[in-house]
Amino acid sequence: MSGFPEFIYRDNELFVESVPLKQIADEFGTPCYIYSRSALTKAYQEFDSSFASRDHLICYAVKANSNIAILNLFAQLGSGFDIVSGGELLRVIKAGGDPGKTVFSGVGKNVNEMRMALDANILCFNVESEAELLALNQIAEDMDKIAPVSLRVNPDVDAKTHPYISTGLKENKFGIPTSEAERIYKSAHRYAHIRFTGLDCHIGSQLTDLEPFMQAGNKMLDLLNKLQSQGLEIEHLDLGGGLGIRYANETPPTIKEYVSALCAKTHQIKQRLLIEPGRSLVGNSGILLTRVEYLKHTPARNFAIVDAAMNDLMRPALYDAYHEILPVTENNGECKNYQIVGPVCETGDFLGHDRRLSLAHGNLLAIMSAGAYGMSMSSNYNTRPRAAEVMIDKSTVHIIRQRETIDQLIATEQVLP
Ligand code: LLP
Repeated sequence: MSGFPEFIYRDNELFVESVPLKQIADEFGTPCYIYSRSALTKAYQEFDSSFASRDHLICYAVKANSNIAILNLFAQLGSGFDIVSGGELLRVIKAGGDPGKTVFSGVGKNVNEMRMALDANILCFNVESEAELLALNQIAEDMDKIAPVSLRVNPDVDAKTHPYISTGLKENKFGIPTSEAERIYKSAHRYAHIRFTGLDCHIGSQLTDLEPFMQAGNKMLDLLNKLQSQGLEIEHLDLGGGLGIRYANETPPTIKEYVSALCAKTHQIKQRLLIEPGRSLVGNSGILLTRVEYLKHTPARNFAIVDAAMNDLMRPALYDAYHEILPVTENNGECKNYQIVGPVCETGDFLGHDRRLSLAHGNLLAIMSAGAYGMSMSSNYNTRPRAAEVMIDKSTVHIIRQRETIDQLIATEQVLP
């Protein structure tokens, strides 16, 4: 068993839904990202159904995986979107997503991006500083528009996750301290082209415990109460994303447990609930398929040099993240302790350390749980074209992004005259 229901062994061969991974490697080459439509759909539906009759909007965090086929799938299921750039807004629109269900997060939205989003009539700007609010007010005035706004509050809670992806501590660059947010909301009359419609927070990513979400929830509810008692009409409460997934032995709450806890925490309020999940929707729905190029046995270590690298999947190099690595064809050969590394010229270029595997030249490996922050964080480092992406729907394989060519990669560069 692989432990991931859509990625299963049949007669020692790893399948995605009804398609053997070997077939995908033959047809599309490696490295290749592969997603399961069924896994993506089930994750979305578990979120949606867990809200039961509660008024809610799931805003998929596009940054986790921004392929337009994935955005389109979620849009068809009714999803909204959480974007952090003008580029992500264009992707949402191209994918058939509804800007009216889209919130715009991020500390550094620029003038052009604000204009694009106002033009598209997005649901809400999640504003992260007073300076940003002033700028947005001015741009909205110039465009003769009213910008719908949530202030992103920094609730100062410890998400107990990797420091690079913890965002809700007062030392972090994100959000506005609670007391300051209260003051800004109360000065709403000063911003003629802003309408405060919501209240927002996001405390970090890959949280495996509900407690920090509950602590942040308490702080948000306190603030909401204060604002309401001052007569401010807040229409929605956005509790951000952050639910973790299982990469190795983590035991995060299920999607249902998480959503139920949020609904229970906020049962006294009438506001619509928004959440911005990324990883928990796509993380375990995708893998990275790679092939062993060379085995190299040194006195110190055994290396399996594969054709995927840190430019394809940056998480191990950047966060020392663990991804399970499975053989595509199980065999009973002798296992050795392998360092699974890519061709990039850095010692930090590894996909896994100390994996016990029986390997031979040409074998295929599946890097699991790579659906979130895999392709979306990939780069062209070492002038490596980015991988192809495919989506499996039962026994059908759809290419959703062609492998990049080297010509495409250098097409916009030019030498001096
Ligand atoms: N909302 C906001 C405002 C965010 O900044 C993020 C993620 C999310 C929602 C979605 O969080 P999720 O549900 O995916 O945890 N590259 C890192 C993760 C960075 C997360 C950044 N913000 C990684 O590979 O672990």
